[in-house]
This record gives sequence, C-alpha cells and structure tokens, in this order.
Amino acid sequence: MPVRADARIDLGAIERNCARLAAVAAPAVLCAVVKANGYGHGALEAARAAVRGGATWLAVATALEATELRAAGIEGPLLVMGALSPEELEIALAAGADVVAWREEFVAAVVARGVGAGVHVKLDTGMGRLGTRDPDEATRVAAAVAAAGGLRLAGAMTHFATADDDPEFMAAQLARFLPWADALGTLRHAANSAATLREPAARLDMVRCGIAVYGMDPFHRDPADHGLEPALALVSYVAEVKRTAAGESAGYGRRFIAERDTWLATIPIGYGDGVRRGLTGRFEVLLGGRRVPVVGTVSMDNITADLGDEPVPVGTEAVLLGARGGERIVAEDWARALGTINYEITCGISPRVPRSYAP
Ligand SMILES: Cc1ncc(COP(=O)(O)O)c(C=O)c1O
Repeated sequence: MPVRADARIDLGAIERNCARLAAVAAPAVLCAVVKANGYGHGALEAARAAVRGGATWLAVATALEATELRAAGIEGPLLVMGALSPEELEIALAAGADVVAWREEFVAAVVARGVGAGVHVKLDTGMGRLGTRDPDEATRVAAAVAAAGGLRLAGAMTHFATADDDPEFMAAQLARFLPWADALGTLRHAANSAATLREPAARLDMVRCGIAVYGMDPFHRDPADHGLEPALALVSYVAEVKRTAAGESAGYGRRFIAERDTWLATIPIGYGDGVRRGLTGRFEVLLGGRRVPVVGTVSMDNITADLGDEPVPVGTEAVLLGARGGERIVAEDWARALGTINYEITCGISPRVPRSYAP
C-alpha cells in the first residue's frame, strides 16, 4: 500500500535548476537560498543538491537554520540574511556563518563576541524592510567592519521589492545600490530569482536565488518558460471508493451534493498536510494520469474526488502536485486558485508529510 501522503523531492531537478541558474548568472556566482526548510523541500538535501549543481554560497534566514546545515556537515560560505537578536547572533557566529549588518551598534556586538566573521552590509534601496536607507550610514558600517580586528567586509547587498512585476522600480533600486556598492570594492549582491532571470545588469558578483532553485516560476506563470523543473511532487492514494446517488453529499457542510449518480474517491490528505482549505472547489488531482475534480470541503485529513462513471481501484496513486501521463499540476496552479504565490504552497506543506528523495 502506498504511504498516506508523500512529498517526493527530485534532487536531480534541484541540481539541474542550479546548474541553469549558475550558467545564466556567470560570471556572477550562485548563492542558493535554502531558508524555511529549503522552501519546504528539506534544507539539507536541497543544499547538497544545490552545491552539486554549482552553487558556491548558501543562504538562510535564521541562525538556527545555519546551525542545522553545519551540524549536518555542510561546509562552505553560508550567509544568514535575517535580523539577529543578540542570542541568535551568538548562534550564527558559532555556526561560522556570515551575517548582515546595517547599524554600527550591531557591528560592535559582533566585535564583542570576539569571533572572526564575514559581514555583509545591507543598503535598503526600496524594499523598506531590513537595511539602512542611508548610504552614508551603510558606508560607516562598512568602515567599522573593515576597521575591526577579526571581521571581514564580505559583501554589499540589497534586496528588490518588485523584480517579478515592476522592472522599473527594480532598476531604480539598482541605480541607488550601485554607486554605493561599487565604492566599497567588495562582493556585490542584489538579485533574487526574478532579477537573475530577467535583468543581466542586476547579477553583479553574486545572485541569491531561492524559488527558481526549486523549479518554481518567480513570475508566477510556467516554470518551463525558464527551463526550470519543479522539484516537488505531492502524492497520496485512493483509500476509499464509493457509489454515491444523486442528492447524496460528501464532506463538512454538505458543500458537495451529487447532481447525478457518481463514484467518489476519498484521498487521505488535507489541510493538516498543507492542502489548504481555500482550495475547496478549485482544484484537481491526477488519478492514474487522469485529471479529476476535487469536490466538497477540504478536511484536515481527507479530500474527495469525483470520478463520474469511471471508478478507480482503491490504492490508485493520487498526484496532487506533479506530472503523470502527460498531465501536470504545479504549485503555480494552486497559488492562482488561492490568490497567493507559489512560495507559500511548498513552504506550507506541513511537517506531517514525510519527504522522500530521489537522486
Ligand atoms: C534577502 C533575500 N534574498 C534572496 C531571496 C531569494 O528570493 P527568491 O526566492 O525570489 O529567489 C530572498 C527570499 O525571499 C531574500 O529574502
């Protein structure tokens, strides 16, 4: 019997996506972003595959994410991109990770730890999140890093707010970033996946790609447009098939009432696994390569597919995300149905779903 629910990760796809991004970005180097458990794919496995594909840097958001990679024996340049409390700073430095600074007090806190570290200075050119908006302050921070014994000025960075949908604003951010970063003479990095794919001028010395590493489209359309291969398939199986007469219902609230006699299949996966309840009435599954509508309310542990006049055997594989028999359902399809982005789809696959890996 198949497992109840399984997120199958194709590490070869991650490797090939990275090789593609590295080739696009060259001579800039590739930093693979593996935060949030590798966008739901598994941070360690994704990191190893990304390195095999040519990533020379890895980036995470939190100190504990850095610790997890190091504890698993992952070496090489590693950047913690997020804000760090004093406790987290300690953890990030102990992991031998580079950290991001934009205030002189933070640099002093790093110095006070007495541990050598690479520091990347962040200019906020329009994201309005982390970093300083003031190039003079950013320059003072860089000078403080350079002057401090043990610290290394390892990079100058910014982050784009609209690389996926407003190239003009991205260009304005780049124009603010470049004069400041060029003057520092260190590794310059700004581009996320969308900027890497769309704007050669944004690639600079290093690109920081996340979503494209996993084969999802940073522009929310079709990953194949950019030669990217989705790395994650979400698979369950048909646990029950029942004949349902016209007028009978399925699921909470009786939101599905059969209009005609039909066969219904129960698939034991639900919002407890990350199949969001908001998908109710808006998605399909592939049963034996056949596209079948999911009907009724998504429950915590089950969904129901309407098979019409063609029942399938109990045990039939149910592909919620992935490709079978010439049909394909991608995270972008779910994102569209939910009014969200593909990032949230794979990050939202819950820890209850085991991840399995194919080389
Ligand atoms: C600072 C920073 N750089 C790079 C990335 C990677 O972005 P993307 O997944 O769009 O490639 C992220 C992710 O949100 C980020 O926060």
